[in-house]
Amino acid sequence: MSAPAAERDTAGVFSPGRARIAARTLRSDRWWLSPLLTVLGLSAFVVYATVRSFVRSAYWVADYHYLTPFYSPCLSDSCVPGSSHFGTPFPELPMWIPLGFVVLPFLLGFRLTCYYYRKAYYRSFWQSPPACAVAEPHRGYTGETRLPLILQNAHRYFFYVALIVTVINTYDAITAFHGKDGGFGFGLGNVILVVNVILLWAYTVSCHSCRHATGGRLKHFSAHPVRYWMWTQVTRLNTRHMMFAWITLGTLVLTDFYIMLVASNTISDLRFVG
Ligand code: FES
Repeated sequence: MSAPAAERDTAGVFSPGRARIAARTLRSDRWWLSPLLTVLGLSAFVVYATVRSFVRSAYWVADYHYLTPFYSPCLSDSCVPGSSHFGTPFPELPMWIPLGFVVLPFLLGFRLTCYYYRKAYYRSFWQSPPACAVAEPHRGYTGETRLPLILQNAHRYFFYVALIVTVINTYDAITAFHGKDGGFGFGLGNVILVVNVILLWAYTVSCHSCRHATGGRLKHFSAHPVRYWMWTQVTRLNTRHMMFAWITLGTLVLTDFYIMLVASNTISDLRFVG
């Protein structure tokens, strides 16, 4: 939020106690590269995910029971036969409602309020600040103390919903071991689905809220050896949370793209069994 006009020259990096430097930064390295790549990467994912979520085609491979994560769970009469693993409690939906509408808002909320993504888009899109020792364009700073950013505190609740969605994705990956003539089958699509779901688990479990849920508010780790062990494992994963955040954006797109190609008969699934 901007300071009143009268305070413009005395707020933020122009505060009286700050060094009087006219240049926005004295850094001579390519400090802008990281925020630029972040903008490009996140924008590309948002555009792809939005288009695919609304397009309503090539999201289910009936022969092998491959279902893209962008449409899971598919819970309405608009879903193609076979793709609704949990029934169709909702009627036909108008085209402006994505078929994955039940969980997509929660997944969006989970990623938007993620501690890593917050850092990423605050720095890259909002430039607050764009990099260390680079002055931000904003004069004032209220952090996450008022609307709308105070809603970032809801992250822990999105985490619990994300856990359920990851269980559903796991179920989808298991039921996809299906042969063309029924029974067990196994192809390249299964490898992609399973790798994707493993990495989704890594991203979800490495969440800072998960770390707090497993080991937070304990006064004596020695009195809670199981929770301490869980907290230790989550902490290890947590150090790689940024990596999982980016990798899972890639694997979600790869999984959806591969299923789209097979479902549209653009390519055939590479089958190992069945
Ligand atoms: Fe990133 Fe929770 S998912 S901190």
